[in-house]
Amino acid sequence: MSQQFYKVTSTKVGIGTAHSKIILMGEHAVVYDYPAIAIPFPAANTTVQISPNDHGRSFIQSRFYTGPLDAAPEILDNLRTAIQVARSSLKFPQQDIDIIIESTIPAGRGMGSSAAVSVALVRALSNLYGYRIKDYQLQFIVNQAEVIAHESTSGLDTLITSTNRPVIYQKSISPVPFSIHMPAYLVVADSNQPGQTSEAVGKVRQLREAKPELTKIAMDAIGDMVQQATLAIEAQDVEELGRLMTYNHYYLNQLSVSNSQLDQIVNAAWLAGALGAKLTGGGLGGCVIAIARDFETANRIETAMLEAGAVQSWQLDLRTI
Ligand code: MEV
Repeated sequence: MSQQFYKVTSTKVGIGTAHSKIILMGEHAVVYDYPAIAIPFPAANTTVQISPNDHGRSFIQSRFYTGPLDAAPEILDNLRTAIQVARSSLKFPQQDIDIIIESTIPAGRGMGSSAAVSVALVRALSNLYGYRIKDYQLQFIVNQAEVIAHESTSGLDTLITSTNRPVIYQKSISPVPFSIHMPAYLVVADSNQPGQTSEAVGKVRQLREAKPELTKIAMDAIGDMVQQATLAIEAQDVEELGRLMTYNHYYLNQLSVSNSQLDQIVNAAWLAGALGAKLTGGGLGGCVIAIARDFETANRIETAMLEAGAVQSWQLDLRTI
């Protein structure tokens, strides 16, 4: 842990954790009530520690900023909102606190970093006050914070960073948790370009206003592919899932949220033997995912993605999630 910037004055500490997420298929269309498939991704995660202080002011220590909470930059507005909403809705004390955030989730890479930090923070507050927070309360609070971070949100990031199972998610209906047992590996590669989800969501909204027919065709197609992907996952048909993922990327391109760097990494994965590849999350940067039939091919794909410009990568065994 990095060195603390203040003297801890309380022995009481609340701890909360949360993992990152990967959207397998359906991002962006999910904002308009189409289904999406997302999976928890524990390889990248966040831990938040909170303790009461007697300095007369709250402090925060994070990779973006360290100092008084009330002077924190706008990028941390979501956390201030999460604290305020947690206090008002759960009747937590209005006391000064020290917050330490440690996260291995790269920010702005479509892995749900902002939602995961808010989830971990609200869990840490609940832990501090000995409150057993229910999932719906946690998600209500974090969604308010996510609206600040992303402007318009489907709620998918909040749900999946606070849940341990893959989920088929559609805004207007209850989420459907499910399991994946596929003889396959998912490779996740960070393009090293921070993508702003709010910007990408805004871009799609503008496109939808300017070209409603084209946007509807793309989103209808994405919605259909997500339905087909759920069947492919159930049937353990890796080839079909890969094919659908690549088509999904093509339609995300139509929605203008890909870019040449992401396309290059997708192509490199494909040429290295991926059964499918696509951007994941908001796009305009962020991460690319690729699916491989076996571990050796996954390694080959990972190397190719790194050679194509990705800067870090992970693998997820899809045999039991
Ligand atoms: C961001 O991870 C996924 C988007 O679909 C936005 C959202 O669902 O809130 C782009």
